[in-house]
Amino acid sequence: ANPSLLILAGDGIGPEVMAEVKKIIGWMGAKRGVSFDVTEDLVGGCAYDKHGVPLHDDTMAKAQEVDAVLLGAVGGPKYDSLDFSVKPERGLLRLRKEMDLFSNLRPAQCFDALADFSSLKKEVVAGLDIVIVRELTSGVYFGEPRGIFVEGNERVGINTQRYTESEIARVARSAFELARKRGNKVCSMEKANVMESGILWRDVVQEIHDKEYPDVQLSHMYADAGAMQLTRWPKQFDVIVTDNLFGDLLSDLAAMLTGSLGMLPSASLGAPMANGRPKALYEPVHGSAPDIAGTGKANPIACILSFAMALRYSFDMGEDAARVEAAVEKVLADGLRTADLMGPDGGTPISTTQMGDAIVAALDAS
Ligand code: NAI
Ligand code: MG
Repeated sequence: ANPSLLILAGDGIGPEVMAEVKKIIGWMGAKRGVSFDVTEDLVGGCAYDKHGVPLHDDTMAKAQEVDAVLLGAVGGPKYDSLDFSVKPERGLLRLRKEMDLFSNLRPAQCFDALADFSSLKKEVVAGLDIVIVRELTSGVYFGEPRGIFVEGNERVGINTQRYTESEIARVARSAFELARKRGNKVCSMEKANVMESGILWRDVVQEIHDKEYPDVQLSHMYADAGAMQLTRWPKQFDVIVTDNLFGDLLSDLAAMLTGSLGMLPSASLGAPMANGRPKALYEPVHGSAPDIAGTGKANPIACILSFAMALRYSFDMGEDAARVEAAVEKVLADGLRTADLMGPDGGTPISTTQMGDAIVAALDAS
């Protein structure tokens, strides 16, 4: 059977950037002989407009069946006043929850042509290629008890950091599996010096390593020291695995080592399916960018790189993923830039469709 893909373009610039991904899917069919069974459906505000809910049950069921889901972005000012239960982002949250996507992959990859764009020194970021794996469904954002309580004559705000052994084990496995497809190196970050959950985290990651992944190089680091090392010399890392809270901070930090929001892909992975590959949703880190929607200014690269991640992690087409990434590198090296990648001294930006076409042309030439 052909690999199956559910495309949920969503709102705002979502459909604009997704149109460029579809050109690459077309190229894969025409030039590489790889056909995908593509289904398209609605999520977010556009789904609410049609069905009165941000994700229809049929769409949810389809997402559970396919090899991978590729999502654009959801939301927009039109929907800001909706009731919380039907807000566009609830569609995305439902997908993450019901697919049980506990492992969030955020690459920080520096394309040489954009190394000057970083706020760090060029030699620190040039050639950078790391992935942060963040536990996404547990930890202090979900632990009970939580709430604002009255204690004596003042209020107290409480959240609870809570991790079970199995929650740690499954995200650790996902990081080790990922490392085997990359540089074979994992650094686990926690605060075992001051947190019980950190002690358990360190123990379980080490046990899973020793029993199941002894071939992968494992190190441990306190998360605060990790933040320092990420800005000092990020190239020392390959895969970093960490909890929900530290991962939220460290992945945003790592992302900005390399430049624009318009360049950042992500993947969220769950448990292995019958075919052995994880349930997966791929999406750019950025939102629906209502300020530029409809103007042709959106950078499609974040969405295109998200599709490249799908090729690598859901379809075992690492070679094609590398081709897509090389084509992106090529157009950037040729000096082509969407508006978000322009420095203050400017130049003439190209449009969303021109960027997509240039990447397809670079693929053709590869
Ligand atoms: P945003 O990511 O949509 O935009 C932030 C800024 O970055 C804007 O100035 C935008 O023009 C720019 N930008 C974003 N993506 C770009 C791209 N591909 N090319 C060029 N420039 C780009 O975040 P914002 O403005 O906070 O939220 C806008 C809407 O998106 C809201 O409704 C929000 O709820 C939703 N949102 C959805 C997300 C998702 O679908 N996963 C994630 C974040 C926000
Ligand atoms: Mg964040």
